[in-house]
Amino acid sequence: MQGFVIEGGTELKGEIMTSGSKNAALPIMAACLLVNGEVRLDGCPCLSDVYSSVRILSCLGCRCELRGGVLTADAKAPTSDYIPDRLMRLMRSSSLYLGACIGRLGSCTLSYPGGCELGARPIDLHLAALEKMGVHINESRGVLECSCPNGLHGAGVSLSFPSVGATENVMLAAALAKGETVIYNAAREPEIADLARFLRCCGANITGEGTSVIRISGVKALHGCEYKVMPDRIVAATYLCTAALAGGELMVTNSRACELRPVIDVLCEAGCDIYGYDDRIYISRKRPLKAVKTIRTMPYPGFPTDAQPLITAVLARARGVSVVAENIFENRFRANPELVRMGARIRTEGRIAVIEGTDRLYGARVMASDLRAGAALTAAAVSAQGITELGGIEYIDRGYERLEKALSSVGARITRTKI
Ligand code: UD1
Repeated sequence: MQGFVIEGGTELKGEIMTSGSKNAALPIMAACLLVNGEVRLDGCPCLSDVYSSVRILSCLGCRCELRGGVLTADAKAPTSDYIPDRLMRLMRSSSLYLGACIGRLGSCTLSYPGGCELGARPIDLHLAALEKMGVHINESRGVLECSCPNGLHGAGVSLSFPSVGATENVMLAAALAKGETVIYNAAREPEIADLARFLRCCGANITGEGTSVIRISGVKALHGCEYKVMPDRIVAATYLCTAALAGGELMVTNSRACELRPVIDVLCEAGCDIYGYDDRIYISRKRPLKAVKTIRTMPYPGFPTDAQPLITAVLARARGVSVVAENIFENRFRANPELVRMGARIRTEGRIAVIEGTDRLYGARVMASDLRAGAALTAAAVSAQGITELGGIEYIDRGYERLEKALSSVGARITRTKI
């Protein structure tokens, strides 16, 4: 098994660049299926989930290539509306191909998506919204046969929760549907806005992204374009939290402070000095960390659930008692027992974690059980005394382009090796 060997105890210093956003690139890649022309996508992160997306696009007959952070995709002539189970299981975002495929071809056969390590993660909101737009779904033995016998049409769709994936799926289906679709209680995440900007670049008629009401008037066809994927705000949060834990000073480039306000505010409350510029964030941590007021994860613009394991790791070394409430995913606390192995004092009950900060964490053998848990354990290990052996790094590779290289370039001691 591959793992990270991390020798902790060094401060971070220097400049580190954030990659393009995974959670923006994946829906935009699904949107390429809607485009009757060639798309060039810059800043596409080279990650296993992005490669999985390339495989799905190729399987649907879209010519697709990812080279050096540039994706070219040409869906002038899709050849299939069927996504095999083995591809659907590769990641959660495979569900977005439902909206894209229905939008472009009027039909789609697929199974439930994978990537469920955070809990149940149903797609009932996606399916109910698409049904309102005229999609008939016939489910048999885990396979969803979707068709639009009377055509795909616009509709008013009220989401009972501002689900990111459901909002994206409806946007994808609506871009080429007949008439207007209005999404009420839409997710407001910056990645949704990036998808809307991309679709507009291709000729779609969308307004309201970034607010909770998104309007999409279907157009006849979308044309090719060149687009640059937004920076990854969770990767930026990972670098900031690692610096907060390890101490030192770091300039995180290709990052927008305005999209990370809740994380930055908590880090400042914990004793870090942070300055945000248009496209970069500076952090310095010279003083000991201190506990913060209760953190509650919420849909954007609240505290992001993806940054919660990272901030929990930071608070494990903050003097005093902090409380974290996880309101989005029931299984987002899976780093906590591993942090406890490293000397953290964390009590986790249901959706609440009570963290009693300790001065020191110690290197240990730990396992990443999902992407952000892996990032949190890496950050903790960089600041811990002694050597940590971290397994399960294939999860980390789903969301970070060689995290060990990036952090090593600013002073961390991490090697990828067989453990
Ligand atoms: C996306 C992000 C993920 C992030 C999450 C919340 C991508 C690839 N992933 O995931 O990193 O943590 O947003 O910001 O962009 N739910 C239902 N039924 C549904 C859909 C969702 O009950 O049909 C529930 C989920 O189980 C979860 C909550 O709603 O409890 C939020 O899910 P959602 O916003 O849809 O997250 P994802 O799109 O899966």
